[in-house]
Amino acid sequence: MIKLEAANLATKIKHEVQAEIERMLKEQGVRPGLAAVRVGEDPASAVYVRNKIRACEEVGIHSEHHALPESTTTSQLLDLIAFLNARDDVDGILTQLPLPRQIDETAIIEAIDPAKDVDGFHPVNVGRLALGRPVFVPCTPAGIMELLDDSGVEIRGMNACIVGRSQIVGRPMAQLLLQRDATVTICHSRTRDLAAVTRTADLLVVAIGRPGLIGREHIKLGATVIDVGMNRISDVDQVRSLFGPEAEKRLDVVAKRGATLVGDVHPADAAAVAGMLTPVPGGVGLLTVAMLMKNTLKAARLRRQ
Ligand code: GUN
Repeated sequence: MIKLEAANLATKIKHEVQAEIERMLKEQGVRPGLAAVRVGEDPASAVYVRNKIRACEEVGIHSEHHALPESTTTSQLLDLIAFLNARDDVDGILTQLPLPRQIDETAIIEAIDPAKDVDGFHPVNVGRLALGRPVFVPCTPAGIMELLDDSGVEIRGMNACIVGRSQIVGRPMAQLLLQRDATVTICHSRTRDLAAVTRTADLLVVAIGRPGLIGREHIKLGATVIDVGMNRISDVDQVRSLFGPEAEKRLDVVAKRGATLVGDVHPADAAAVAGMLTPVPGGVGLLTVAMLMKNTLKAARLRRQ
């Protein structure tokens, strides 16, 4: 089984972005800018946004982090979005999801200027992707495509199965694979006999947010398995049953930090049947951030054409 580590590819993408940004700065006197908006105290969101800001610093994107209180209203957030839309020095805007319950998430996503929608969540960008004319592609599926290409996976004609139908991963992933001539099946929480469907897949992409749900019975021998899940677990028995030979190392992590990260794929099970597997952490998550940098550079370019 080949472990599809993403660190080197993420670094390579960020270096390419950095070089382009230096050129843009020298030739046009322009430094791309990203505004990241976070509402409330969700600890996972805080980590993700911090990683995005850190990546901006690495590649030379000007960044600002707007952290708003849990009690923020839709109207207050709309005001901030309008302010960021109007600023010429802001090329990309992202609102970290999920938002607190009282906020109308759809209204917020639709308020972002599609030209600054570096997450690719605005209906204009979703529509462009569905039509096969993408401008901003959601970062996680875009990163997965980069990883597949980098790993020499021949997508054309593959049976690809996606577990999860979210706007952030599942749906855009299906569009991208379809554009590359895969035969695409989307499974979800109501799919009957999930394993019977996923077992037919040469390429299995899992994004459902359920720790270790995808086990040996779900995976075809030799399949390429992309694990998008990021679940924090701290239960000792659960760690033991998921990690097999790696359990002791993970238990050390739990002892030190209170929890360890596991994907939606059972790592010990998958290692026995998959041909390739992305690890968690160290897999898809790194590419999401790298692609956000790439999208922000693209936004800065397109806005100045
Ligand atoms: N929440 C989980 N993934 C993402 C992402 O890619 N972008 C944003 N804005 N929120 C997320």
